[in-house]
Amino acid sequence: MLKLENIKKSYDQTVVLDGINLEIQDGEIVSILGPSGCGKTTLLNLILGITDADSGKIIYNGEDMTNLPMEKRGFNIVFQDYALFPNLNVYKNITYGLRNKPDISTKEEVKDLINLLGLREHLSKKIEQLSGGQKQRVALARTMVMKPKILLLDEPLSALDGVIKESIKDRIKTIAKEYHLTTIIVTHDPEEALTLSDRVLIVNEGKIAQFGEPEKIINEPENEFVEKFILNQLRIKKNNIFNLFGGNEGKMERDILVS
Ligand SMILES: Nc1ncnc2c1ncn2[C@@H]1O[C@H](COP(=O)(O)OP(=O)(O)OP(=O)(O)O)[C@@H](O)[C@H]1O
Ligand SMILES: [Mg+2]
Repeated sequence: MLKLENIKKSYDQTVVLDGINLEIQDGEIVSILGPSGCGKTTLLNLILGITDADSGKIIYNGEDMTNLPMEKRGFNIVFQDYALFPNLNVYKNITYGLRNKPDISTKEEVKDLINLLGLREHLSKKIEQLSGGQKQRVALARTMVMKPKILLLDEPLSALDGVIKESIKDRIKTIAKEYHLTTIIVTHDPEEALTLSDRVLIVNEGKIAQFGEPEKIINEPENEFVEKFILNQLRIKKNNIFNLFGGNEGKMERDILVS
């Protein structure tokens, strides 16, 4: 279990995280959802160990990790800007971490992941020859082959298109469940957060607005921010899609019920 106790972080007198308390169970998929600038990446960086908190504790399976350097924590991240090696080809990027730890993933597992992420035909390309979405998939593969204790993902799906996005969402879910991998995913998309995760952590202005299961958030929003910012976005999207298919909302819902 990963536990954050009263984490506080400021940059130049500006409070970014203001007393974050939470517990994430092993094998759980948690999304961190909130508007731009609310502190999502900062929270991930604190868990990863590349940013220090001003106060508070980070505890993993009973061990205080607050002052442990990143490489000793055994967590791994897919950065928002991918952070790939430009001088290595796609395959070498994906397998980079396995050079010194070849037993972590079998050749078969690496191949599987490459196929699933649709990267097979790009393996010998240089990073600069890839599109944004392709880079994102390479970054995802590179991190997943290492099977980290905790997988941290910063907006991993934002540059992907519809169909592949859904299949990668499924893959993340399958891998997380299969390997009992604790997965923490940052997103600003409520639909993605609510369909992908076991629980959603909604952050607003450095504080937790609500932390709960998707159904709980939908049915029992705890405050105005969750209601207005998160649920309203979803309702607008839902209505837009219903309208697009030429029905009004009530009729569509009845159709779904009788089919
Ligand atoms: N190294 C830094 N120095 C100073 N201020 C910073 C630093 N990193 C982040 N901040 C500030 O902290 C706040 C939170 O930033 P953070 O990157 O965590 O937001 P975010 O929720 O990930 O946003 P986005 O959705 O746009 O990625 C922002 O106001 C940002 O300007
Ligand atoms: Mg961010």
